[in-house]
Amino acid sequence: MNKAKRAAIIAGNWKMNNTPSQTTALINEMKPKVADASCKVVLCVPYVDIPAAIEAAKGSNIAIGAENVHFEKSGAFTGEISADMLNELGVEYVIIGHSERRQYFGETDETVNKRTRAALDAGLTAIVCVGEQLTEREQGITAELVAMQTKIALLGVSAEQMKKVVIAYEPVWAIGTGKTATAEQANEVCAVIRATIASLYGDEAAEATTIQYGGSMNAKNAAELVAQPDVDGGLIGGASLKAEDFSVIVNAATNG
Ligand code: 13P
Repeated sequence: MNKAKRAAIIAGNWKMNNTPSQTTALINEMKPKVADASCKVVLCVPYVDIPAAIEAAKGSNIAIGAENVHFEKSGAFTGEISADMLNELGVEYVIIGHSERRQYFGETDETVNKRTRAALDAGLTAIVCVGEQLTEREQGITAELVAMQTKIALLGVSAEQMKKVVIAYEPVWAIGTGKTATAEQANEVCAVIRATIASLYGDEAAEATTIQYGGSMNAKNAAELVAQPDVDGGLIGGASLKAEDFSVIVNAATNG
């Protein structure tokens, strides 16, 4: 597999953290620290922080993403946000199917698929999250489960649209727990995802797809993880809330 055929992306997932004014301050602090990155740098922020984030990131190498999107174009869906709304603000990326959405907000493989298609139809890049729970890993079904999640998420996605799909492998047991997958575990499952994409879209598309690892990635362990042949960057939670830690991860991906 040739890493040169795809972009490494370090994306922050702020989750439910930072107000608009805190957003401006944090991005201003991050900008000079990540300016020399050769990987792509993305910050996915809460909806209400998006205008402040876009403004603060203007003229920098930081792209802005959202943390979710609804699958309908418009209508009676109180509290929801459409892909067109995000587009008009200048959002380029959107996280879909994060395990916290699956766990707390009733997200299923089917709704992940619908959101992915809505995001892609609107021209957004979809960061689709997949990953197993600890019991599933212990049962030895990680590969099958992650392959299935990937396949369902991509139902009806065209080969052309695949160019705007990023997959984030996030083992649920590693999220926010300080328990990181080993570099070998991360690489093994990212390789399963790449093989799944190859079975659906062919080898060339699989080699061109960015597959990230996420789950307690931090300034200390990032370099080893992103150096793995099938790990193309990371989706970073807690460590993306600190300018110094996030920039160390970005620069590790740049050197990796
Ligand atoms: P942590 O980096 O805080 O473990 O979160 C990972 C994550 O969920 C990114 O989407």
